[in-house]
Amino acid sequence: MSQARTVAVLVGSLRKDSASRKVAKALAALAPSTLKFRFVEIGDLPHYDSDLETETPPAAWTRFRREVADAEAVLFVTPEYNRSIPGVLKNAIDVGSRPWGEAVWSDKPTAIVSTSMGALGGFGANHHLRQALSFFAAPILGQPEAYVGAAHTLFDETGELTSEATADFLRSLGLAFEAFIARQSPDAAVRAAA
Ligand code: FNR
Repeated sequence: MSQARTVAVLVGSLRKDSASRKVAKALAALAPSTLKFRFVEIGDLPHYDSDLETETPPAAWTRFRREVADAEAVLFVTPEYNRSIPGVLKNAIDVGSRPWGEAVWSDKPTAIVSTSMGALGGFGANHHLRQALSFFAAPILGQPEAYVGAAHTLFDETGELTSEATADFLRSLGLAFEAFIARQSPDAAVRAAA
């Protein structure tokens, strides 16, 4: 029997009507029920400043680091800002990367979904995010690549996904991510070796 696995979800947009957040919610709803998605908020994190890295760092940093550390895997869903990731998401990655040697991203199976209103689906943001995460030993899901274009057209006024093709794609992404997490898990390695 598959065990439940917690996935921390980081959304790179802060706005209430964010298409990226809707995509993240749709993926969470369509993924296998063995994956438990927990949204981790990033909008309240003070800008990274190593002078604040004292015995009592900002409470929001501590809360954020704990929530990501407690999860088994990480899902990023982000829009593209000026061919890269939004500053608020880069700040979250930086906050999670310290103190030195204690990065919360290390060894966490990770999936990346980029979104945009245009046709390119946030390709630049997707790959800038992969570059930032390459500093850590975080295995990143390679396939399927997830570039969600025209994201604002995929939902109705209540936020429900209306595109069957996108639903099929998100379902397959959830399945691939579940299998990827299972392959990275030490439990799975122990079982395979037994
Ligand atoms: C954008 N947008 C954008 N889109 C894109 O495809 N490539 C880009 O480089 C940018 N750059 C960019 C910069 C800034 C500052 C903003 C505010 C927007 C448009 C962006 O994709 C659109 O606003 C999305 O809807 C934002 O995602 P959420 O908030 O709906 O998740």
